[in-house]
Amino acid sequence: MKIEILKTAADVARRAALLFQEAVKSRPDLVLALPTGRTPIEMYALLAQARREGALDVSQARCFNLDEVLLPRALPQTFFQFMTQHAWGPLGFAPERARIPNGEADDPEAEAERYEGEILAAGGIDLGILGIGTDGHIAYNLPGQAAPRTHVITLDAATEATLGGDLSAFRPIRGITMGVETLLSAKQLLLLATGNSKAEAIRRLRDDPPSDRWPCTLFRGHAHLTVLADEAAASQL
Ligand code: PGA
Repeated sequence: MKIEILKTAADVARRAALLFQEAVKSRPDLVLALPTGRTPIEMYALLAQARREGALDVSQARCFNLDEVLLPRALPQTFFQFMTQHAWGPLGFAPERARIPNGEADDPEAEAERYEGEILAAGGIDLGILGIGTDGHIAYNLPGQAAPRTHVITLDAATEATLGGDLSAFRPIRGITMGVETLLSAKQLLLLATGNSKAEAIRRLRDDPPSDRWPCTLFRGHAHLTVLADEAAASQL
């Protein structure tokens, strides 16, 4: 694991966008795993700008979302809506090359298995871009709910709150997430962390023994994991 400490969140976004562009340039047909959340929004904006300027072409690449919530797809809180707004169209992914678990599946467990199969059939992940929760979750491998392969989880109250809005009518809210091994099998991982609220999780990622209570600690052993942290997220190191 390598930790790069950058001054600001904007610097993290710039560095992440640069590494993304370099990866696509060196392997145009690469398979990406992509995150949602506040952290990657600026990276996506920079990549969309690069595409408009002719400096990014993902027409041969494929992307798989890290996770999805099991909610009606039309709701603004779904990751389908987030990716539609921030990533897929703006970066230039054709719909058939932009994959996400079906959050409306009648049988979520079967959908998780199908999605894992789709990732394996694509040859696995070349570059996975990750966020990190304040509780150390990566994708939706939540504390106590990490598992090796793509699986169904139930959102805790704090994780639900990060979605915003009032979702009480849908409780308990579940999600489908790539598993720890799904992601550890990636050739390269890039983890973005910005702000003070991520400082404890970043410290535990670096220092704590691997434990399912802080799922981030399960990722430290990856040979090609780079953490891009701003000074605030690195403040406990
Ligand atoms: P955030 O989410 O980027 O909105 O902080 C990170 C995550 O939960 O993985």
